[in-house]
Amino acid sequence: MDKKWVIGNWKMHGSLASNALRIEALLAGYAVYAAQLERVSMVVLPPLVYLGQMQEKLKAQKDQENIQLGAQLVAAAEQGAYTGQCSAAMLREFSVSIVLVGHSECRQYLGFDASALGLQLRQVLLQGMRPVLCIGEGAAERRSGRTQEILWAQLDVLKALGQEFAATLWERLIVAYEPVWAIGTGDSATPEYIQQIHEWIQQQLGVVGKPPEVRVPVLYGGSVSAANVRAIMALAAVSGVLVGGASLQADGFLELSRCVAETQ
Ligand code: PGA
Repeated sequence: MDKKWVIGNWKMHGSLASNALRIEALLAGYAVYAAQLERVSMVVLPPLVYLGQMQEKLKAQKDQENIQLGAQLVAAAEQGAYTGQCSAAMLREFSVSIVLVGHSECRQYLGFDASALGLQLRQVLLQGMRPVLCIGEGAAERRSGRTQEILWAQLDVLKALGQEFAATLWERLIVAYEPVWAIGTGDSATPEYIQQIHEWIQQQLGVVGKPPEVRVPVLYGGSVSAANVRAIMALAAVSGVLVGGASLQADGFLELSRCVAETQ
């Protein structure tokens, strides 16, 4: 079984100088709490232009599995005339092992639709990495009782992929449930709500083709902090957290990660 996940999404924050300070503090903190933190899978997702910097810094780790490197997005195509984009093979060269696909901010600002997301997932799988498919309903969709309908439409992309990749898809896939109304608002979903939606997502994964013996990790994201993470991780249906704002301070992210380790 996977360890519990703590994925820090740095979004479009940072600079060469501040990233260096953050990652050095994370590595130093990791060394102090290694016995605890080895029980979780910690990942950082810097902006793409800083992947090389982070790869260099993370090489200093004795165990490359300690803090892993991930990417916030990937191109749908393998290579070619796609100005401004970055392919899965390029990410792989920087030791990226985890890639977000379909974060709500990418859906909103970059206009990724279901077919683009399907192709992105495909590229991640072809390069041997693990995709984190992000799904979540907006505030208005929730208010109008359309949460399940929206999530169902966002999971639909997995049907065709399951046919192409068979067991590989289900063994590598990670899903992150991030209600859009909870992202960056300080207003996380309640544990009851998270448990209910996560159980529902697990069932629907079976409907889109997941074999019953495989358990796909379903993470929660949306205003996760050191203050609320214990209650979230206490839920049986939650396999980890995707953290935005609270991943930007090394001390806070280490504390949050230690809380997750304690719930193992
Ligand atoms: P947040 O962001 O923790 O700042 O709410 C989460 C995310 O967007 O992944």
